[in-house]
Amino acid sequence: MHETYQKFSIQAKSAAEEILDCIANNSHFTINCHYDADGITAAGIIAKSLSRQNANFHLKLVKQMDQEIVDTLSDSIYDTIILGDIGSGYLYLLKNIKKSKKIFILDHHQINGDVNEEITQVNPHLHGIDGGKEISGAGVTYFVAKSLDEKNIDLSPLAVVGAVADMQDKNEKRELNSLNSLIVNDAIEAGLLKAERDLIIYGRETRPIHKALSHTMNPFLPGLSGQEDNCFALLSSLSIPIKDGDRWRTIVELSNDEKKKIFSAIVEHMTSKEVSASPVMTLIGTVYTLINEDMWTSTRDAREYATLLNACGRMDRPSLGVAICMGERGSTVKEVANLLSEHRKSLASYISLITEKPENIERYEHLAIIHSEEFLNENMTGAISSLLSSSETFEKNKVIIVLAKTKNGEIKLSARGTDELIEKGLNLGIILQTLAKRYNGNGGGHKIAAGAQIPESNQENFLSDLKNEISRALSE
Ligand code: C5P
Ligand code: C5P
Ligand code: ZN
Repeated sequence: MHETYQKFSIQAKSAAEEILDCIANNSHFTINCHYDADGITAAGIIAKSLSRQNANFHLKLVKQMDQEIVDTLSDSIYDTIILGDIGSGYLYLLKNIKKSKKIFILDHHQINGDVNEEITQVNPHLHGIDGGKEISGAGVTYFVAKSLDEKNIDLSPLAVVGAVADMQDKNEKRELNSLNSLIVNDAIEAGLLKAERDLIIYGRETRPIHKALSHTMNPFLPGLSGQEDNCFALLSSLSIPIKDGDRWRTIVELSNDEKKKIFSAIVEHMTSKEVSASPVMTLIGTVYTLINEDMWTSTRDAREYATLLNACGRMDRPSLGVAICMGERGSTVKEVANLLSEHRKSLASYISLITEKPENIERYEHLAIIHSEEFLNENMTGAISSLLSSSETFEKNKVIIVLAKTKNGEIKLSARGTDELIEKGLNLGIILQTLAKRYNGNGGGHKIAAGAQIPESNQENFLSDLKNEISRALSE
């Protein structure tokens, strides 16, 4: 094993030993995890592995780390705190928690604040491993869980779901690398996962082929995305049977020849529309299949599973997602499928609102700021900025900032960059850490994706500094 991976793994093992000591001393744990899909899978992994130790715990999903949460943790009846997929960016706040409490941080965000002996922190950045690409929050918790008990290797597929949820497969081959690939190997060896190069189309396990194709939004396929009839016509022109008796066939049931035919037809279609066909290449990559999940269900394909959990968080029902991670199926999955369909509708309507009102977009050389403060739900900034950032038809190779107002009257913003800008030296997580603090807010994240909350009265100055910091980073 690579030396840095080994160091990371030793740190996870030592944290697991400390957790076992706490359990032996009858500790009462409070677990706080981030409310997005990676945080939800992290929560599932921690909760499942602590239940297996018969530990006493309480679990909560949180949108962010701030003074209020720190105060709640400090005053709570629980003596041991575990933070999953959150915390490393907020060491400067966490240091004020009562010294009598034991704190564990299992996270992959960039670190902000002094690392000290009192807090047990497992984080890839401590070993020079990039938490934005090489391991997710769920992955970090998985390494600890595996050291708690070998049995927890059966939780490895959840860590794969967490990694794809955080888009750690966003590379040419669309595959998980580095520490993530060790988790993939565990899952394959345990007979729980299949990883193979194939067509990555949303709903490949669950939807009729034309519907799956029309649901493909990333990459956006002009004339096909969102246009079921056109997708149906395209398939008919290829003479590919789309039904098997009364039942619709799915992408997984297609032969290799049929898949190749569809792929070539999409490329041809794009060329005929005079748009670049290169984004279509991202439709081929490594597909991760959870082989113990039932056929034709949304928890069988890791990316689809991640989308389901993401909707739970964004629609304010993250605990439903945790229930699914802990094994609930049937009516819970149905309930979540309805949430997902609502979530999709609201995403689509927000995207139209934004693209129909170009006057709300402030444009600079390396930056586009979307002023959606007056209409966007605060939970949606991340999804909208990720979508716009990967869209071929929106501002290309710029930082995208999406703004919303929170219920408390603060400004919430999500920033997304591109690989090209990162290579030029951009680090959005560090920029937002620094500026949010300067303007009495909280911010942080990864190089390529970060967020912040700030008081509304500081918005103008904050954005002006942000614009300058981004230009400075890219001109050095
Ligand atoms: O809090 P957490 O680390 O789990 O969230 C990471 C966020 O960064 C996710 O919302 C993910 O979609 C986003 N991301 C992105 N583009 C990347 C990598 C991550 O938008 N290339
Ligand atoms: O909220 P959003 O999806 O934009 O978050 C992008 C990344 O920035 C996530 O990894 C999130 O955990 C992180 N973030 C943070 N502090 C904030 C807001 C977001 O570390 N105040
Ligand atoms: Zn994460």
